[in-house]
Amino acid sequence: MNILILGSGGREHALAWAIRQNPKCDRLFVAPGNAGMEPLARLADLDILSGPAVIGFCEENAIDLVVIGPEAPLAAGVADELRAAGILAFGPSRAAAMLEASKSFTKEVCDACGAPTAAWARFDAAEPARAYIRAQGAPIVVKADGLAAGKGVTVAMTEAEAIAAVDDAFGGAFGEAGAEVVIEEFMAGEEASFFVLCDGKDCLPIGTAQDHKRAFDGDTGPNTGGMGAYSPAPVLTQAIQDQVMEQIVRPTVAEMARRGTPFQGVLYAGLMIEHGRARLVEYNVRFGDPECQVLMMRLGAQALDLILACAEGRLGDMAVSWAQDHALTVVLAAKGYPGAYEKGSAIRGLDALPEDSFRMVFHAGTARRDGQIVATGGRVLAATGRGATLAEAHARAYALVDAIDWPEGFCRRDIGWRAL
Ligand code: AMP
Ligand code: GLY
Repeated sequence: MNILILGSGGREHALAWAIRQNPKCDRLFVAPGNAGMEPLARLADLDILSGPAVIGFCEENAIDLVVIGPEAPLAAGVADELRAAGILAFGPSRAAAMLEASKSFTKEVCDACGAPTAAWARFDAAEPARAYIRAQGAPIVVKADGLAAGKGVTVAMTEAEAIAAVDDAFGGAFGEAGAEVVIEEFMAGEEASFFVLCDGKDCLPIGTAQDHKRAFDGDTGPNTGGMGAYSPAPVLTQAIQDQVMEQIVRPTVAEMARRGTPFQGVLYAGLMIEHGRARLVEYNVRFGDPECQVLMMRLGAQALDLILACAEGRLGDMAVSWAQDHALTVVLAAKGYPGAYEKGSAIRGLDALPEDSFRMVFHAGTARRDGQIVATGGRVLAATGRGATLAEAHARAYALVDAIDWPEGFCRRDIGWRAL
C-alpha cells in the first residue's frame, strides 16, 4: 500500500522508519518531512493544514493511508476531510481532537465519565480567577485553555506567581488560547505517559514512556518540548496501567462515543502517579515527540499493522507483540533552544553512524544543503538506542551522541537518570 505521513519532526521520522520496515508498505511519502527521511520516503512539499491540498496529493499518488503526526492538522479537521473524501486516515476528528485543544473540554469529559484528575475551575475574567486562587492557596496550577504550544501552563508555588499567570493570560500572552483559563489543584507525584490506540470503540495500549521537559541536566532550566525520553516507564506498573485503562482511558473513549464524536487515533495520557494510583494530567491526541521515537524503536514494523487496524476499526482483533526491551532517546538541540538560536550550522559525522534496529538517529529539524546536513530547528536530532536493559539502551544512545560532530548543538547528559 501507499502511505503518506504528515509532519516533519523526529516523531514523523520514527514513524517513517518503523512503517518502511513493514512489507505492506509499497511507497512511502512524508509531507513536508526532513533530510533524515530522504532514504526512507519521498518528501512532498505540501500545506498539511489544507484538507484539499492533502486530498489532491492522495488522489495523484494513489495513497491508501494517511498517518497524521502533529496536532495542528488534527485541530484543523484534516482527518475529517480525508475520511469524507473516502481516504483512510489515522488520527482523530476535529471534534475528538478537542481532548488536546481545550483543557476545559477534557476536564468536562473527565467529570462526565468519572476519570480521576485534579479538581478544577474555569474562568473567563481575571478578578474571579484571582479570588479563586486566594481562596485555594498555593501551590496551584494555571493553564491557558487552548493550544499554546506547550507554553500555557504555570505550576505556581506561590499565590503571587499564580496571579501573575492569570494576568498574563488575560493580558493576551497566549492570544486566543488564553481567553479562558483553567485553574487546577496541584498534583504531587511522578509523571509518566501512556499511549493507547483507540478505534472509536476498542483500545490497545502500545507502551509507556517518561520524558525530560527541562532544558538542562538535573531537570533544571526552562521547559522545552522534551529533551529526551525512555520506554518503558518503570513507575507505570501493570497494576497502574490496568487502573488507567479501567478508570481513565476506557471511560473517556466511551464518553466520546456517547457524545457522537468517537476518538480514533493515539490517545496519549499524561499521568501523575502518587501512592500507587494514577490521575490524569492531560491528554494529547497524537504521539509525543520524542516519546514516539522510543515507542517506534520498540514496536518496529508492527507499528504499521497496529496503525492500520486502528484506522480501519479492527483493534479488537489485534495484540502487540512485545520484546523484553528498553529504548532511550537523547535530543540534540541548537544552543539557545528553547529561546533564540541560530539556524544553518553544519552537522558532521551522521553518515558514518552504525544504524540498525538498536541504534538510530532520528532527524527533527534538518535540511540538506550543498550535500551537507544543516540544522534548521530548535530540536534537531534524536539519538535513540534500544537494548535488553535501559542501561544498554542508554549506552547505545550516548555512543551515537558522542559520534556526532555539531559544535553548535547541546544535549542533556542525564536522560533516564530516574530509572537508571
Ligand atoms: P499540561 O500541558 O497540562 O501537560 O501541563 C504541562 C505540565 O505541567 C505537565 O506535564 C505537568 O508537569 C505540569 N502540570 C500540569 N497540571 C498539573 C497539576 N494539576 N499538578 C501538577 N503539575 C501539573
Ligand atoms: N514530549 C511532549 C509532547 O510531545 O507533547
